[in-house]
Amino acid sequence: MVKVPLLDLTAQYAAIEQDVRRAVAPLLRSQKFVLGEAVRECERRVAHYCGSAHGVGVSSGTDALLVALMAEGVGPGDEVVTTPFSFFATAGVVARLGATPVFADIDPATLNIDPAQVERRITKRTKVLMPVHLFGRMADMDPIMDMAERHGLVVIEDAAQAIGAEYRGRRAGSIGHYGCFSFFPTKNLGAFGEGGMVVTNDVARAERVAALRVHGQTGEYMHDWVGGNFRLDALQAAVVQAKLPWLDGWTEARGANARRYSELFADSALGGDPRVELPCTADPPGGRQVFNQYVLRVPNRDSVRRRLAQAGIGTGVYYPVPLHLQPCFAELGGKEGDCPASERAADGALALPVYPELAEEAIETVAREVERAVADANRAMAGKGTATSDGNRATAGADLA
Ligand SMILES: Cc1ncc(COP(=O)(O)O)c(C=O)c1O
Repeated sequence: MVKVPLLDLTAQYAAIEQDVRRAVAPLLRSQKFVLGEAVRECERRVAHYCGSAHGVGVSSGTDALLVALMAEGVGPGDEVVTTPFSFFATAGVVARLGATPVFADIDPATLNIDPAQVERRITKRTKVLMPVHLFGRMADMDPIMDMAERHGLVVIEDAAQAIGAEYRGRRAGSIGHYGCFSFFPTKNLGAFGEGGMVVTNDVARAERVAALRVHGQTGEYMHDWVGGNFRLDALQAAVVQAKLPWLDGWTEARGANARRYSELFADSALGGDPRVELPCTADPPGGRQVFNQYVLRVPNRDSVRRRLAQAGIGTGVYYPVPLHLQPCFAELGGKEGDCPASERAADGALALPVYPELAEEAIETVAREVERAVADANRAMAGKGTATSDGNRATAGADLA
């Protein structure tokens, strides 16, 4: 049996080992691990790659979002409009500052926040719009920027999953007032631990973020603001910098793998199954997507996933519970039906291995096993008389072992 994990970073490391060792060795010799030239160089290169004037390395993607909100003084009484179909950090950072996340539903075709829904959620309290470029495809930024301008709002792009993605010729992170990236190991440009970066074209904003990352310090032991320790580790900066020249090649391979899956699925029974939705693999106008994940929607997702695990195929569920239904946000009053497109996506989303080093044989194996697993799950559900149920949360009781 060919085993295919969701992600295999050892294959990547085999290719880049010499580059990483070369980048890290001077730091080990100098024993200088806090900020310094390694972090500055990483900031310069990543910001340049993203088409932004400034980069500030921080401790994680979560902290990139947090510190950008802090730099805008977001706090109690403020509202931040964002998507409910994202990783928890997107909304968690808003709540941590005492502000209120307000959820606008997604466009079911792209799984990204729907600008028309955003417009409806803007109130006098709205301070920030926070689109997420989910799975490596950019949100529809033109209407979002236009809305921000009309209402005097700040735009923070959650570009954690989208480094190198493009929209009308501009890169993720460079369109809003801030772009926030994660170097979590599973990201397209991952560190060997935690890391992140804020990019911006505004020097005053970059300076404020840089100060907030060291407790708001503006002079020696002088603090104009209350910040935190949000520094990017110098060793991680060196790793990220060593990996950056590889990124475009990896992105191309991810795109090719994603398109190959869609081709194989389109030619199979899945292509004609109305309950299966393939991700949009066409590049957006004037842009490209970078496929941090290849996520399709399948009926009876959890049983499909279990069958795939039995066949040695690793999968992921991003994300099973939309943010407006998370228990910690219960007091915001979110309920089932508020964001139907997000709830539907959460019920059926299944991520397949798409990492750059996947061989053609592995892709074909995964595609074949997905087809089998969906067919099996459909048959079993039909046998139980619940053929119309298609999800996880919604069918928790009816799910198959
Ligand atoms: C959309 C999104 N936002 C924010 C984050 C937070 O990044 P990190 O894990 O580096 O804190 C992640 C990554 O996990 C993410 O996928």
